[in-house]
Amino acid sequence: MELPETKLPLTENALIVLAKRYLKRDEKGNPVETPEEMFRRVARTIAAADLIYNPQADIKETEEKFYQLMTSLSFLPNSPTLMNAGRELGQLSACFVLPVEDSLVSIFETLKYTALIHQSGGGTGFSFSRLRPKGDIVRSTHGVSSGPVSFMLVYDAATEAIKQGGTRRGANMGILRIDHPDIEEFITVKRDLTKLTNFNISVAITDDFMKALKNKESFALINPRNGKVVRQVSAEELFDLLVENAWFRGDPGVIFIDTINAKNPTPHLGQIEATNPCGEQPLLPFESCNLGSINLSLFVKDNFVDWDKLKETVHLAVHFLDNVIDVNRFPIPQIEEMTKKTRKIGLGVMGFADMLIKLGIPYNSDKAIDIAEEIMAFITRESVKKSAELARVRGNFPAYKRSIWNSPDTPFMRNATTTTIAPTGSISIIAGCSSGIEPLFAVAYTRRVLDGTELKELHPLFLQALKEKGFSAEKIKEILNKTLRQGSIQKVEEIPEDLKRLFVTAFDITPEEHLKIQAAFQRHVHNAVSKTINFPESATKEDVRKVYMLAYELGLKGVTVYRYGSRPRQVLELKREG
Ligand code: CDP
Repeated sequence: MELPETKLPLTENALIVLAKRYLKRDEKGNPVETPEEMFRRVARTIAAADLIYNPQADIKETEEKFYQLMTSLSFLPNSPTLMNAGRELGQLSACFVLPVEDSLVSIFETLKYTALIHQSGGGTGFSFSRLRPKGDIVRSTHGVSSGPVSFMLVYDAATEAIKQGGTRRGANMGILRIDHPDIEEFITVKRDLTKLTNFNISVAITDDFMKALKNKESFALINPRNGKVVRQVSAEELFDLLVENAWFRGDPGVIFIDTINAKNPTPHLGQIEATNPCGEQPLLPFESCNLGSINLSLFVKDNFVDWDKLKETVHLAVHFLDNVIDVNRFPIPQIEEMTKKTRKIGLGVMGFADMLIKLGIPYNSDKAIDIAEEIMAFITRESVKKSAELARVRGNFPAYKRSIWNSPDTPFMRNATTTTIAPTGSISIIAGCSSGIEPLFAVAYTRRVLDGTELKELHPLFLQALKEKGFSAEKIKEILNKTLRQGSIQKVEEIPEDLKRLFVTAFDITPEEHLKIQAAFQRHVHNAVSKTINFPESATKEDVRKVYMLAYELGLKGVTVYRYGSRPRQVLELKREG
């Protein structure tokens, strides 16, 4: 494959990813668009929304600003916006939640909508909690129901068949409440590695369950069809089963559904039951959300955070994301209607670990927690200011009146939420920075993208630091080889202590330290935070259990744990050579 020509500061890895999935291609699959042309296409399409509110708007100027915003790699919108803006599909959102009601019509209607969304590169989340349990009666046929898990398998098979025709494979989130009678089947279904390969699954844990667990009480499982108690289980035993499977496979994750609903900005429109596939975006049924992330690694100037530039970037990014809603082509009218009622956007960050390194702050330190809070509080505050400014001209989001924003302090608000921390799995590769708020995964590694393609990467900041320490090119090569062999720099003796401390990687950091960073961001984010809590292979079930309990106490909306080696095909893998 030929890499596209560009004058932009894009890494080779970025160019490969762009050429494979983002740039327009001819029938032979060769790119017919340069990265500059892609960003131009996106900037022009998104800027055009300004005309809706002001027919005299200078959209050339806005286009130029959006173009600079993206080509400087300071901010990138989620993948579907880059892929589809100004093109036939025109579907720009990454996240959707669809309702699954307890009827065949609803189950298969939603499956149809899911296919349409996957085709356009979006991800879908569902709660299956409303479905009657396995073995329950089906009146119309005098038969018995096969239960939520069996329908999830149908969704999975459909997703497998669609494969998103060249953009990206469909991703799903399947959620079941902890009080559903089929909860044990749900918790254990992914032990079989051939099942639900296109699903992340999460258990929706309630406050009542956590209370029963704390008091070592029994807990009622309830048939959602009639509200009747089906049986009582030991809360502790159920929790043990959940922890054991999370330890074994990394699935299921958990979401704390009552914590999520306590922060639901529009409770009058309904309860939130599910999130998008990676868990960072809780949404009402038929809501969609578009995300975008600021590349923090570019906001360090003379060893300090460049707050002025950050403020300007946040304001422009909110303008951009609000415009995305108006030029988006929605897959079905119900989604357009719900999305335009709340106008949720999810501005977040990537390159946080790179920023810390540039500031000389180790990821697992109190200072890192302080800076996380400071940065995210600032971004959310400024994004709210910009949303209010937009609302003065464009109007409040239509569901504002009965929302939590309706107070004398916030008479104007354009978006029911403004901030979310996305994983940024692909856009961080394009930007050439560390993903989301994750620490470096390794200082030397291979990253597997798409269908098994491997990208080898050395961290440029580490290389630079070694050079600054006066290491010769030969010595550096030796150090890198040793690092590749051992998977971490912590045991490579030539590396100075201060660098070992600064270039700490995901598996050198304790689960509690991971969680504290997640909590620091969550305290200042409207939606939720995508974060993996990494455990070494040797971690015990008790370790996982403690993290779940701590996550609840810290007020997190969800947790995803990952014990090294617990899944056969890992998206990110340490490179062990020699
Ligand atoms: O970096 P990029 O914009 O491609 O996406 P991300 O930040 O890694 O993921 C954001 C959201 O996009 C996820 O939570 C999913 O809702 C969706 N997604 C998806 O549908 N399919 C994928 N293969 C990856 C992400």
